[in-house]
Amino acid sequence: MQRRLVTKYLLAGFLVMAVTMILYEMSTSRAERISCSYNENFRPVEDLRMHVRDQEEVAPARRPMDNADIPTIYVITPTYKRPVQIPDLTRMGQTLMHVPRLHWIVAEDTNNTNKHVVELLDHLGIPYTYLTTPMPHKFRIKSGSKPKGVSNRNAGLEWVRKHATSGVLYFADDDNTYDIRVFEEMRYTKRVSMFPVGLVTNKGISTPVVSNGKFVSFYDGWISHRKYPLDMAGFAINVNFFLKRPNASMPYVPGYEEDGMLKSLNFTMNEVEFVADNCTKVYVWHTRTGSVAPASRTILDSKYDDTNLRVIREKMLLKKK
Ligand code: UGA
Ligand code: MN
Repeated sequence: MQRRLVTKYLLAGFLVMAVTMILYEMSTSRAERISCSYNENFRPVEDLRMHVRDQEEVAPARRPMDNADIPTIYVITPTYKRPVQIPDLTRMGQTLMHVPRLHWIVAEDTNNTNKHVVELLDHLGIPYTYLTTPMPHKFRIKSGSKPKGVSNRNAGLEWVRKHATSGVLYFADDDNTYDIRVFEEMRYTKRVSMFPVGLVTNKGISTPVVSNGKFVSFYDGWISHRKYPLDMAGFAINVNFFLKRPNASMPYVPGYEEDGMLKSLNFTMNEVEFVADNCTKVYVWHTRTGSVAPASRTILDSKYDDTNLRVIREKMLLKKK
């Protein structure tokens, strides 16, 4: 009699557990289940809220060139919420759709997953990793210039250290303009490659100066004691080369991010590859999207509450006051 009762209770227990598990599975996405803990000084990649679409998950028919036996390019893109974020990422993403064997690491300056960005990444159908990588509080509250995109890029580097074994890495801000040829120029980088970036400062360009294939100096509107006065978009790094430098990272020093990163890689100019036809071709521009103020309050009128405008309003980052 007692045994029967115990069996009954056990069965009931199992049933409750199974139903709870099924409900939990249905109610939360995988990403939501990866907890997001934030420690200002040390944040291993596992702790980040992360969305991933692996190469294998991308339909081969859609991207046939992804099967090509060529080095993978890991593009690390910092981003943050603002009215032009989705337009900027759409333009950039639709450029990247043309580039085979590319893994896009989109690292957002936020504590919380931005579902609009993840939706866009899913739609694009290219392999990606989405990371939430907030700027440390002490920099955010500081007045004056901030180390924009540094926590994002360092988290991207950490991800590359953990997941990549070969290929090339490239820092590509979300508001630049990219000719897809820039990716083919950097794809076979052996150590560090450099190339021109258009529309940087009032000099109009930032580039190494090359004569007869030999490095002469740097041309940039802001030298300021930098050993490597380059723009973030003007160099690419071989992944193996990077992996052999466990201390390589980007400093939180506004204006000196590129210089600090390149110095931490510890190389000489003799080792640099000057691609884009000895730096004679411009395939990337520091265009910058003009800042757009959030739209006026008219769309917030409650008479639109049950209409399409309510949905659009949310997408356009308009908060109802
Ligand atoms: C210039 C350089 O081109 C950047 O490489 C450099 O990181 C930046 O200056 C800087 O150090 O201040 P700029 O066009 O002035 O770039 O800067 P943004 O494009 O506004 O920001 C650079 C990247 O960081 C972008 O991808 C942006 O989405 C991201 N960002 C910006 C954040 O993640 N958080 C912010 O608060 C601002
Ligand atoms: Mn920019």
